[in-house]
Amino acid sequence: MTGMPNAMFSQRLDQLPAYPFPRLAALLEGLEPGKTPLVMSIGEPQHEPPAMITEAMVKYASLWHKYPPGNGTPELRSAIKGWLDRRYNLPDGMIDRDAHILPVAGTREALYLIATCVIPQDQPGPKPKVLLPNPFYQVYCGAAVLNDAEMVPLAADPETDFLPDLDQIDIETLKACRLFFLCSPANPQGSVASRDYLERIIAMAQEHDFVLAMDECYADIYDREAPVGALEICAAQGRMDNVIVFHSLSKRSSAPGLRSGFVAGDPVIIKRFNALRSYCSATVPMPIMAASAELWADDAHASENRDLYRAKIDVAQEIFGNRFGFYRPPGGFFLWLDVGDDEAATKKIWVEAGVKVIPGSYLSITDADGNNPGKRFIRIALVHDLETTREGLRRIADALS
Ligand SMILES: Cc1ncc(COP(=O)(O)O)c(C=O)c1O
Repeated sequence: MTGMPNAMFSQRLDQLPAYPFPRLAALLEGLEPGKTPLVMSIGEPQHEPPAMITEAMVKYASLWHKYPPGNGTPELRSAIKGWLDRRYNLPDGMIDRDAHILPVAGTREALYLIATCVIPQDQPGPKPKVLLPNPFYQVYCGAAVLNDAEMVPLAADPETDFLPDLDQIDIETLKACRLFFLCSPANPQGSVASRDYLERIIAMAQEHDFVLAMDECYADIYDREAPVGALEICAAQGRMDNVIVFHSLSKRSSAPGLRSGFVAGDPVIIKRFNALRSYCSATVPMPIMAASAELWADDAHASENRDLYRAKIDVAQEIFGNRFGFYRPPGGFFLWLDVGDDEAATKKIWVEAGVKVIPGSYLSITDADGNNPGKRFIRIALVHDLETTREGLRRIADALS
């Protein structure tokens, strides 16, 4: 502690739950790992990033002296448009490179700032609501709390295919909702929203006039079928009102250090978001934009990357079979195992197997009904190479058996 008085800081900071990784460190403090430590708690892709990144840094080194434009270069926006069109089979003329796409320096910050952009202040009546799946990527919670909205966690349990049950949201909540975060493929459960599900949630956003922030960062990491995206639904409808999607090269190209992603969708939101970002956001450096354009234009490396994950899910299936509620995650690269008591299992796995995993309840919160949908689960990140992953999973299975 620095001894600074609390009045110096935003009180809302105190309302944030502790971030999962310091909580994990505290849980395991003083416990010795039983074997050589292996970190499978963090979703940080360890596959070799494509060589074109390094090559682009040399090729475009002369661009380091330029301040990058906040809305990205036309070349990058064109490459992103090309990817969106291919990946989601969008009709010609739907995506306008300049009006519908905004490159961002990784989606984490954008997921936070979208709340600043769309949550109204000083409105009469109760606080605006932000709806989010529970468990969730922690930034959604930060975005809601720090922008003085009421966070409404929606349980995403096995019973609801690990997605929020849209039928359970009452009309008053929908009316007060200004922002709804949905993640598909979902971190941590790997669940994928169906076409019907997306049609329903987009219709809700348009009817109740809230923004649907679709976090599709894992869109290119999938097991069998390419997950449907919100823009595909918009294409069928012929409009993108109230919808904004978030995409990243962190997972697609195994380059979380690049800090490169984009948002796309409703041009009204994109325009306001761009205006907001000129006051506060890090822009993507020019050589990184050039590298990013090459990465979005190339699908071969993303396909190879996907194959590497699929092979690891095969190994996980061999090892876990039908134990611990194992299922093949349709998307993403996490296992979400039902272990009964998440913290006890996490400690046991560390002490006996030397593997760090994360307790599910550190990625979720207890809702108004006293239910914490993460409590029975642990999340395991399959981010290492195949053999390291096999070794880690074997050790985890032994410790849990
Ligand atoms: C669900 C989800 N959304 C967004 C992000 C942010 O990714 P980035 O800021 O690297 O684009 C992550 C990173 O782990 C994530 O898991």
